[in-house]
Amino acid sequence: MARNKKHLVIAIDGPAGSGKSTVSKRIAKALNILYIDTGAMYRALTLKAVRKNIDLESADLLTGLAHSTRIDLKEGPAGLRVLLDGEDVSSLIRSPELTNNVKYIAKVPGVREEMVKLQRAIGERSGAVLEGRDIGTVVFPDADYKFYLDADADERARRRYEELRQAGEKVNFEDIKKDVIERDESDMKRSVGALKKASDAILVDTTDLSIDGVVEKLLAYIKK
Ligand code: DC
Repeated sequence: MARNKKHLVIAIDGPAGSGKSTVSKRIAKALNILYIDTGAMYRALTLKAVRKNIDLESADLLTGLAHSTRIDLKEGPAGLRVLLDGEDVSSLIRSPELTNNVKYIAKVPGVREEMVKLQRAIGERSGAVLEGRDIGTVVFPDADYKFYLDADADERARRRYEELRQAGEKVNFEDIKKDVIERDESDMKRSVGALKKASDAILVDTTDLSIDGVVEKLLAYIKK
């Protein structure tokens, strides 16, 4: 069904470390609309699956889990909070171990169907900036603006490394780089909701740009 175009929907896709999250938050703030971190939703469901010891290779069990789980995104004073069945799991879902397990959940078609439904419902209610992998291709192919952010693998790994170090994680650069490259591969190769630039998305290479530079560039397109 066609979307009611009353509200502004902006799709921002790209690989890990491309600058999507920071930029999406800033764009949402500048336009005074909701920010939806779709990766956080896949992460939250992964946390529940791991906690419940569910077989990560069982598509049926994972689909059932997606149906019986409540995931909410709430704006708080400290930024976006991720609620898993009412529990704030915002920090827990960022650990490297958890991050490496998301791929099992993200490749299950039944899980993606449920997540996409939820993302569309939240986005349509009031308009939003949605960041992820399949926003411009699957979730909102008719978004008002679509961007695809990318950067060199080395630069993306460096950004992830700094982010994790600042969060107090003990990390090794080469391990992070390997994880980032493996995650991109698995994101690009899955049969549903793969990471892909929509043909009508605007490609922005952020390798040599500051966050301010990327935000300015995107806002210039939106305000044109
Ligand atoms: O953006 P992120 O690093 O928090 O995303 C975590 C993982 O979730 C990522 O490796 C792939 C998956 N993901 C997805 O499959 N589809 C999305 N729309 C967003 C994230």
